[in-house]
Amino acid sequence: MRVGSTSVLKIVMTIRITTQRAARINSKESFTVSFSLSEASETKHFVSRQEELAEMHKSLGGDGGRRAVVLHGLGGIGKTQLAVAYAKAHQADYSAVFWLNIKDEDSLKQSYARVAKRILQEHPLASRLSTVTEDSKPDEVVDAVKRWLDHPTNTQWLMVFDNYDTPKVPGNTDQAAVDIRRFLPEAYHGSVIVTTRSSQVNIGRHVRVGKLKDVRDSLQILSDASRREGVMDGGLFLMFTDTEVTSLQITLPPSLPKSWMDFL
Ligand SMILES: Nc1ncnc2c1ncn2[C@@H]1O[C@H](COP(=O)(O)OP(=O)(O)OP(=O)(O)O)[C@@H](O)[C@H]1O
Ligand SMILES: [Mg+2]
Repeated sequence: MRVGSTSVLKIVMTIRITTQRAARINSKESFTVSFSLSEASETKHFVSRQEELAEMHKSLGGDGGRRAVVLHGLGGIGKTQLAVAYAKAHQADYSAVFWLNIKDEDSLKQSYARVAKRILQEHPLASRLSTVTEDSKPDEVVDAVKRWLDHPTNTQWLMVFDNYDTPKVPGNTDQAAVDIRRFLPEAYHGSVIVTTRSSQVNIGRHVRVGKLKDVRDSLQILSDASRREGVMDGGLFLMFTDTEVTSLQITLPPSLPKSWMDFL
């Protein structure tokens, strides 16, 4: 069959329009992922930490560039809960919030696989994740997610790396140590929060998470943790054990007995 010059022109025009349309759709690719913190363990009643939240907001605010905050403090002091509280309070500022467990490399790669799944559930045609299949190797999934996060118009994400307690730093010969830099997207955008017990994580502004300043806040946490109503009410105020006091790093006024035994 002979195709006339008018038909060829029509075909060329159609291809051009389709390509332009596809390019337009691509440039408007959405990177919004609905908010979920199912990976994180969250306390029912978050108390206090307004100063730390404000410090985090200051460091993670502003336009352009990669922003990173390192929440550093002792085990059990409240770093994870602070990161959860920040993510919840500022979720509207981000197009996507991802929670990753960086306890060790395996946990982190599993977290990346869950991130890929979440993105693909909402964006099955996500261009930079098209290579990810059920059979993809963990490293391939990590690379694909990083590529998605690197996209020049995908700049408003927040990643929380929880439990970065064994960082790979000079002098640390621990085989289980993780180098977070290998897992961070390359592009100079996005926001990162790291929680760590280590003082050697230098990838962002440090926010020290210390003891709660007001003993009543600590008692409120104990009350919630022990599910004993009335801890704050006068007489029942001291119904907790030395272990609980120690694990929450509480400083009680010296005049107060530390355990219910002292009450007898
Ligand atoms: N601000 C808070 N409000 C309410 N509960 C809190 C708060 N901070 C800590 N807790 C309580 O203390 C527990 C330990 O806190 P969290 O898990 O945040 O500590 P962490 O510093 O992340 O410890 P780790 O280094 O072991 O990960 C929580 O499960 C919660 O019950
Ligand atoms: Mg924690």
